Formats: sequence, structure tokens, C-alpha cells
Amino acid sequence: MEEQLNVKELLEWYITAGVDAICGDQPWEKNIVAKVDTSVQKVENKVSEDIRPATTELAQATVIACQNARQQCSKAETLEELKTLVENFEGCSLRLTANKTVFGYGSAHADLLLIGEAPGADEDRSGIPFVGRSGHLLDKMLQAIQIKREDCFVTNVLPWRPPGNRTPTEGETAVCLPFLKRQIDLVKPKVILILGGSAANALLDNGESISKLRGKWLEYKISDGTKIPVLASFHPAYLLRNSGQKAKAWSDLLRVKQKLCEN
Ligand code: URA
Repeated sequence: MEEQLNVKELLEWYITAGVDAICGDQPWEKNIVAKVDTSVQKVENKVSEDIRPATTELAQATVIACQNARQQCSKAETLEELKTLVENFEGCSLRLTANKTVFGYGSAHADLLLIGEAPGADEDRSGIPFVGRSGHLLDKMLQAIQIKREDCFVTNVLPWRPPGNRTPTEGETAVCLPFLKRQIDLVKPKVILILGGSAANALLDNGESISKLRGKWLEYKISDGTKIPVLASFHPAYLLRNSGQKAKAWSDLLRVKQKLCEN
């Protein structure tokens, strides 16, 4: 006898398994490409030639999407124009699974620009960066150095939430980076504070761990050649899990405050 599908139980099972995002209406086998490649490898024994085209196609699509993103960005002369371009950009598949585009938020003339990694579930629902638990901690951190969130510009490397908060791929990061860079050009802040290692690695184009990067003044050059002081520190989500690191984050915040007062 065919088993009756109990939708409630099935949904409960998904939730217990940690599924918190639905990516589409149709089932989708993400390993299908790998399976095809494996069979090719066995049957025809010409692994590299048969696998390479798929890899190259993906790489080519990413390169083209990056070029498109850069071209689009150069057209945007205001943050509003850039926001509309990002909302309509079709070169990153994360847009298809996200609920909202989470563009940078805050003062267009901010002295301090903060950069996180990617929106989480709360940001994906609201369309505003750092509104969840990490955002609440960030607000408190800023308050501690007498800076109001509304006087800052807060943004992320990625404007779309990766499904289930998975780590963004290098391709996704590369495609979205021109949008972040254009936001920095347009705000032209006095100081940039990067939150977390992955955002620091993306903007500064290096592979250093956050524990090595944090607390040191670095420079980021915007498109008109102006050099902006950049400091990387721990991500608030990391601090929520590792409160023992808050003292280091506090000293980073004091450095930021001092730099803002100097300029
Ligand atoms: N974490 C981030 O990096 N960015 C957000 O906007 C929220 C959480």
C-alpha cells in the first residue's frame, strides 16, 4: 500500500534537518553535473577534455558577469541609481533565491563605512543590512564609541543572501565586488571598517586570516585615486560566539574612533 505523504511531518523533518530556505518550486539535483562527468571519465577515459568545457563555461560566464557588473557600475552616479542597477542585475544566481536585494543603507555622506559579508535571514526579509542579532551587537558597538548607526553607511560584499547562509563561492563574490566598490566610490568615507575575514579578503584581495589582519591600518584606493584608511576587525556574529575576543574588537573600535577624530 502506498504510504500517505504527511506534509506536516515532512516540513518538520526539513526544519529539524536545518532547512530554512526554499530555492524553487522544482526539485533540483545539484550533483547532476558531477555524475555526468564521472560517467564520461569511466566510459570514454578522457577526463580532462570532457570535464574542462563545463568548468570553462562556468568560468567564462563568471568573467562575463563580472565585466557586466563593472560596466553597469560605471554608469551609476548616485547610490539610488546604483541600487536600481543592483536590483535589476541578472548576472548572479543568488538573486534568484533571495527574497530581497540588500543594498547598503545609511548616510550617503557617512564618514564611516562598514562592510559585512552577506545578508542573513533577517536582512533577506527586511532588505536592510545588519538588522538581526549581529546588527544589534553592531549597534551597541557603535554606541560604545558614540557613533550613531544612521550617521554611518553599512553594506555587505554580497547584496543577496546565499541560501541557508552557505559560504559564497569565489565567483559570486567576484561578480558582486564591483557593486561594493562603487558604493565606496560614491560614499567616499573617511574610514572603512571591515567586519570579518571573508569581507576583508574580498575587498583587500588577500588571503590573510582575520586574526592576522585585524587591528592594523591598511589602505583602500577608490576609483579617483583617493586612499582611504581601512581597518578590519571581527564580525559581530563571531563575537556573539566568542565573547573572549570582545576586548580586541573594543581596541579596534577605539582605533576607528581616533582615526575619525584625526581626519
Ligand atoms: N551578517 C553580515 O555579514 N551582514 C549582514 O547584513 C547581516 C549579518
